[in-house]
Amino acid sequence: MDNRPIGVFDSGVGGLTVVRQIIKALPNEDIIYFGDTARVPYGSKSKETVTKFSSQIIRFLLSKNVKAVIIACNTVSSNSYDELIKEFDLPIIEVVTPGAEACLKETKNKIVGVIGTEATIKSGAYEKKLINLDSGVKVYQKACPLFVPLAEEGWTDNNISKETAEIYLKELLNKGIDSIVLGCTHYPLLKKCIGKVIGENVRIIDPAAETARKTKEYLKNLDALGNNKGKAEFYVSDNTEKFSFICQAVLKKVCLAKKIEIEKY
Ligand code: DGL
Repeated sequence: MDNRPIGVFDSGVGGLTVVRQIIKALPNEDIIYFGDTARVPYGSKSKETVTKFSSQIIRFLLSKNVKAVIIACNTVSSNSYDELIKEFDLPIIEVVTPGAEACLKETKNKIVGVIGTEATIKSGAYEKKLINLDSGVKVYQKACPLFVPLAEEGWTDNNISKETAEIYLKELLNKGIDSIVLGCTHYPLLKKCIGKVIGENVRIIDPAAETARKTKEYLKNLDALGNNKGKAEFYVSDNTEKFSFICQAVLKKVCLAKKIEIEKY
């Protein structure tokens, strides 16, 4: 048993979609969450910058005595995971592998779509992972950068988000995909809107549930599961109000985020 908390981070509110699944799968784990609200979005930044920000965040999480870190961000998972596991000596779990595996379980025709930030799509991480796992799969990708500010603003299902989704997703729908991976943790916040645009015949794959399942398996194998009350603390690098508001809406419980100086780490 290991009663230290699990650290989870993202550029902003997106990683809360992963926290939601961790709470379901691992109700006895305490969580320390960090959302980099001062520096969001990560998806338009370089690999070097994303890696530097992520290192600072993991150092902050380590100062909170975490036993493992979940990178609840596809941009960081796709671009910086290899560097981060070299730098830090603790279990680090990423979201791309669980996302690719969940997608392959669901697709029937093996024609799949992946949407994500510019940096995730440019890295080709999903395509490589999917083809590595199944060389017969055909992958179509599309960067949807505006979904991130829409999610951060809480505009998840209105005319603007719908029109944005229509413009972004049109070309993928013409390819005959039967599944689409939400390759950015912000996107499940727009799931309803995305669902209306892509229709019932395309399955929506959110890597979060599979990530939570893998985390449980991983901690169990290390004999490091916790036996806590499932307390969560939230930290951000800028204004707390909007984050706390969205956090409450996503997790359906009172969340009061605290601001910290992430540059110090
Ligand atoms: N939620 C993140 C992801 O999964 C990052 C979005 C962003 O900051 O651009 O990629």
